[in-house]
Amino acid sequence: MGQTEVLMKRIRKAVFPVAGLGTRFLPATKAIPKEMLTVVDRPVIQHVVDEARAAGIEHLIFVTGRNKSVIEDHFDHAYELERTLGERAKTKELEELRRDLPAAGQASFTRQQAPLGLGHAVWCAREIVGDEPFAVLLPDMLHHGREPCLKGMIDAFAAEPSNIIAVSEVPMSETHQYGILGVGAVGKGGLMPVTSMVEKPPQGTAPSNLMVSGRYILEPGVFSILETQPRGAGGEIQLTDAMVSLSNTRPFNAFRFDGRIYDTGTKIGFLSANVAYALERSDLGPMLRNELKAVVASSQTRK
Ligand code: UTP
Repeated sequence: MGQTEVLMKRIRKAVFPVAGLGTRFLPATKAIPKEMLTVVDRPVIQHVVDEARAAGIEHLIFVTGRNKSVIEDHFDHAYELERTLGERAKTKELEELRRDLPAAGQASFTRQQAPLGLGHAVWCAREIVGDEPFAVLLPDMLHHGREPCLKGMIDAFAAEPSNIIAVSEVPMSETHQYGILGVGAVGKGGLMPVTSMVEKPPQGTAPSNLMVSGRYILEPGVFSILETQPRGAGGEIQLTDAMVSLSNTRPFNAFRFDGRIYDTGTKIGFLSANVAYALERSDLGPMLRNELKAVVASSQTRK
């Protein structure tokens, strides 16, 4: 199949790389995968799966690693629990559990046997993705906005079939901490053509303030590049390096996400996400608002 025809296919599959070690969140992540830490009452990975399903994704592909089997359990039936909930007439809880469950055959798990980097993790999904464009969602990056980020990207893909990278604005003084895209003028589907990609540009050299935020639509051609790609920054096989190579011959666009990003792989991002997600819930928001005021006031008097 030609490369142009490949891009005419619908986005049905999403890859969730969950094999990282989560060293920035130790000791919490010593025995618990960081993807299972909860933002309010849902594991981080569930929030991201919710985003993918809201975008119409039909097949979830998890690239897991050692100590991650609890993620598999989370997306499976828990027969004893479900029976007990049924016996106790806890219908609402039971329905919620069942609603979150992927249908039989619509979740796949493959192992990245060594944490060789994000690019390598994505490559591990190649057999399950096959010859069609697909989404990648980094589970620790929560995208909090009016519309799910991936849905906006898939709509934009329909208008302009291409590789698409989600971006979000950051202060210029922080660009050295992120992957940054240089872009051209806004075109079809609200997309901006990517003119350059740089990983953590030194202060003062960034082509823009648009941070790569952890949502991608990629064509399967990226797999053959990753297959032979040498290790890059940090001794890891980097997804960015593969995208730079692919962009030499294939169209890449940036999608600006209109909302806030929380990096739950960091302590401050995780704490802020919990507050933001709880504040918008009708059962928790008003109470939490008062609690927060009281907590801040009492921490100030103790200083
Ligand atoms: P991160 O660098 O944020 O995750 O990778 P990490 O390595 O788990 O975290 P720290 O830096 O040690 O705290 C981004 C995403 O890529 C996945 C991670 O699970 C995370 O979702 N990843 C990273 C893999 O699946 N495999 C890898 O080899 C590296």
